[in-house]
Amino acid sequence: MPDPTLTRRTVLAGAATTGGALAAAVALPGRALAAPQDAAPAPAPAPAPAADGKAARPLKLLMLGGTSFLGPEIVTLAVARGHTVTLFNRGKTHPSLFPDLEKLRGDRGGDVSALKGRAFDAVMDTSAYVPSHVTRVREALGDVGHYTLVSTISVYPAVGSSRDPVGESSPVAEVPAEAVAAEKLTNETYGAWKARCERAAEAGWPGRVAHVRPGLIVGPNDPTDRFTYWPARVARGGDVLAPGDGTDEAQCIDVRDLAAFLLRCAEDGVVGTYNAVGFEGRVSFAELLHGAKCALRHDVTFTWVPAAFLAAQKVGPWHNLPLWIPPEGNGHVSAEKARAKGLGFRPLAQTIADTAAWVRETKRDVAWGTGRHPGLSPAREAEVLAAFRAK
Ligand SMILES: NC(=O)c1ccc[n+]([C@@H]2O[C@H](COP(=O)([O-])OP(=O)(O)OC[C@H]3O[C@@H](n4cnc5c(N)ncnc54)[C@H](OP(=O)(O)O)[C@@H]3O)[C@@H](O)[C@H]2O)c1
Repeated sequence: MPDPTLTRRTVLAGAATTGGALAAAVALPGRALAAPQDAAPAPAPAPAPAADGKAARPLKLLMLGGTSFLGPEIVTLAVARGHTVTLFNRGKTHPSLFPDLEKLRGDRGGDVSALKGRAFDAVMDTSAYVPSHVTRVREALGDVGHYTLVSTISVYPAVGSSRDPVGESSPVAEVPAEAVAAEKLTNETYGAWKARCERAAEAGWPGRVAHVRPGLIVGPNDPTDRFTYWPARVARGGDVLAPGDGTDEAQCIDVRDLAAFLLRCAEDGVVGTYNAVGFEGRVSFAELLHGAKCALRHDVTFTWVPAAFLAAQKVGPWHNLPLWIPPEGNGHVSAEKARAKGLGFRPLAQTIADTAAWVRETKRDVAWGTGRHPGLSPAREAEVLAAFRAK
């Protein structure tokens, strides 16, 4: 499986380290995103889908995965809504989770025989990365009433360069011909392989698949700590290095809102392809950070550092300053189609507050900006801020 901390950063590789080569290469105007003070009144947020109430029809649900970040949210909600959930995984990731549920052991890369002869109303797939993961399940399981495949917006090669909202009919990436037979998964081919997984699922269960393409999934329990950097940084207080001029757009989705939408797909038999990324309206980086200030601590200040200065300092988007992408590489993904099928977004301030609470309560100690950890270490942030003030 690709390194989730790197995938979008890989798309942007070189943007910072080559002094804005991406900007030079793309040379397109930035998106017109309202500065916070000019923002049009946002429509009232859709009510957050909740666990209240039971589903109209209880399902026998097979969860392919279920024990890392997104999976547990789906499983917990499914159980609360009265579904009978069976987990299939290798038993490596948090094997003690869900002691009361049936657990089938196997490996999507090899032995999936535990699925043979089993019948389910619906399958929820969070762990397919190459097509054989899907075809193997198809061969063992046979028919199912409904299949939800968790894909990704990384299927869109143009996501960074499109000036138009990226919809579900935008072209998807292709795996290089010479890499197909080996099914070799890399950070660069992650999206292209997901597109192929979608095709394999559609071929296996024609007309019965919801292909859901999330953007960055965020919130409590996120093992990748990308979004988490910002609530944690604001909670630390002091002067925060904030990227760009504040107008750059931030897009992500709360893991709980995504789980609710995925389950709705299974319950309602939703089929087709859906982007799943926030928000209703658009959220700028200034709104995100000032939202965190309002939610977490009021004495924090922000120093907005232009993209060009950050690039000169070799501070890159996405990994060094998580979630942030400068306008020339930051396309907007539209989730209007999913919204029409019930995708809702809780207020971002709630995601911020809950993520900060999770960090606090679990005493999560991330070595920001070291090794594979995203973000900037406190020392590096102070160094860049000092250089910026001295210029
Ligand atoms: N994180 C993001 O920002 C983001 C954005 C867009 C899309 N996505 C997609 O969202 C999904 C990530 O969800 P998640 O990891 O949080 O899901 P999850 O369901 O919570 O965890 C992954 C599960 O897959 C199981 N698994 C991994 N490899 C397996 C194998 N070879 N055979 C059988 N089971 C296996 C793991 O258990 P064992 O290790 O015990 O087998 C674990 O239960 C992925 O499909 C990813 O592409 C993520």
